[in-house]
Amino acid sequence: MIVAGNWKMNKTPSEAVAFVKELIPRLAGAKSDVVVGVPFVALAGVVDALKGTNIKVAAQNLHFEAKGAYTGEVAADMLRDIGVEYVIIGHSERRQYFGETDVTVNKKVHTALAAKLIPIVCVGESLEEREQGVTPEVIRRQTKIALLGITQDALTASKLVIAYEPIWAIGTGKTATNEQANEVCHIIRELLAELYSKEAAAKVNIQYGGSVTAANAKELFAMPDINGGLVGGASLKAADFEVIANA
Ligand code: PGA
Repeated sequence: MIVAGNWKMNKTPSEAVAFVKELIPRLAGAKSDVVVGVPFVALAGVVDALKGTNIKVAAQNLHFEAKGAYTGEVAADMLRDIGVEYVIIGHSERRQYFGETDVTVNKKVHTALAAKLIPIVCVGESLEEREQGVTPEVIRRQTKIALLGITQDALTASKLVIAYEPIWAIGTGKTATNEQANEVCHIIRELLAELYSKEAAAKVNIQYGGSVTAANAKELFAMPDINGGLVGGASLKAADFEVIANA
């Protein structure tokens, strides 16, 4: 089980440090792995504030090249150097507003693994795709391309996480039903079994994301193919995130 907060473009570095200090005692007994996904400029301060605790830190993006003339971008080694352990890759907002594609997502997964960062790879269909009945195809395509060239050993050793986030459920308050969420997480698990093996597929943590709240987390996380959540809005409130991380 792994619960990750995705703060998106929220909290200044000082707000971020104050916030995680509030989280530390609340999450000290969490049974799942807990991760906070914070903005780049807050990463160093948050890593520092969380040293020696059970809360890990994720960046929300990285560039796929190791270094070079990519103004405004951040490389995997830079994240590793300050103690970041996870990186969210291919969030639908990055795909929608910043032109990320299945191919760049795949490149970023390779880069993250080479740097020993644990990727949280996001996939998810739009409302239109769901209504047209192509959700399974979309999810299979996104997942398959994201993992192209990743061996079974790399997949399992890296502890790579896949987050199923239906776009229509993100920030809308419109959560997928437990069954809808589980159905797609199951499709991802079956695809992993097809691409790798049943054993490898069983080991991968598959999260659900999209309007996860303190009220619905427990039921979602109890579904057989859902191994935790990627949480946006509700991860910005300590009390809510505490309930979700302990669900
Ligand atoms: P939300 O966002 O929980 O605010 O819907 C989830 C996400 O985008 O990861």
